[in-house]
Amino acid sequence: WEGSRCPLGQVKGVPLLQPTVQNWELVENFRAQPDDLLIATYPKAGTTWTQEIVDLILNDGDAEKCRRAPTHKRMPFLEMFPVPPLESGVSYLDKMPSLVIKTHLPIQLVPQSFWDSNCKVIYMARNAKDSVVSFFHFDRMNRIQPDPGPWDQYLQKFMHGQLCCGYWYDHVKGYWREKETKRILYLLYEDMKENPRDEVIRVMRFLERSLPDDIIDRIIELTSFSTMKENPMANYSTIPDSVFDRSVSTFMRKGEVGDWLNHFSPEESRLFDEHYEKMMSGTSIPFRTQL
Ligand code: PPS
Repeated sequence: WEGSRCPLGQVKGVPLLQPTVQNWELVENFRAQPDDLLIATYPKAGTTWTQEIVDLILNDGDAEKCRRAPTHKRMPFLEMFPVPPLESGVSYLDKMPSLVIKTHLPIQLVPQSFWDSNCKVIYMARNAKDSVVSFFHFDRMNRIQPDPGPWDQYLQKFMHGQLCCGYWYDHVKGYWREKETKRILYLLYEDMKENPRDEVIRVMRFLERSLPDDIIDRIIELTSFSTMKENPMANYSTIPDSVFDRSVSTFMRKGEVGDWLNHFSPEESRLFDEHYEKMMSGTSIPFRTQL
């Protein structure tokens, strides 16, 4: 990275930021330990939200402990390359004992050591239309992401797997397919929004923890959009302005279901739905069709 927007390269046919591609050997050879937990998502699906829920569960709802450092230092981003003054994901990881690790890699690119060590994985998926809207605003404000260009072209790139991390459709289907054979908990952003209690309890059970009701309530409150937006250790406000241009958009932007209605024209929505049906035919991921 040389202080400007990164071009995309490819690893095994998947578009990734060029500096990640250049550092691929480090990522691929990362040696996961059996107690490591991987939080995997297609970008903008609610990664940071899931990370905060997990960290609070693992720390018995102790808000102070979870403010020990910003998200990316508490739970490093596996394939992130150094963005001065920030270190690479792997270099943070190398300094920590047992880890919660973030990744946006599609399942086929997850380093083999995670599977060899039978690590647990929490995957969160978000409906396609809100994902692309959120990604668009993120790419506008994040000065290391490729230039998003105008919305209509961006939408085409999303549909054709040309954004960082490739096809959304393949990403969500890949983890869904493997969820019975590997230790994968599959969450949906919309379910977490609608019924956080049930979903937080699912995460807690998956992590083999048991917390009293009042702590669960506290975790739900601490991980609400409005609370996280004000928490400097969970809202990425520590990322320098040289990387995030906050005059364009903020990381904690809206946190809503259905914001796509403010971006898709009726014609874009129709064409998107047609294409979606083809790309997703034969899959049973319970995304809500009516948002
Ligand atoms: S990243 O960069 O891929 O790790 O981003 P990620 O954290 O996956 O996604 C960011 C979007 O998630 C929203 N968000 C939340 N929504 C609801 N509740 C909570 N607590 C929450 N925290 C983050 C965030 O606002 C981004 O969505 P948009 O639609 O852009 O607001």
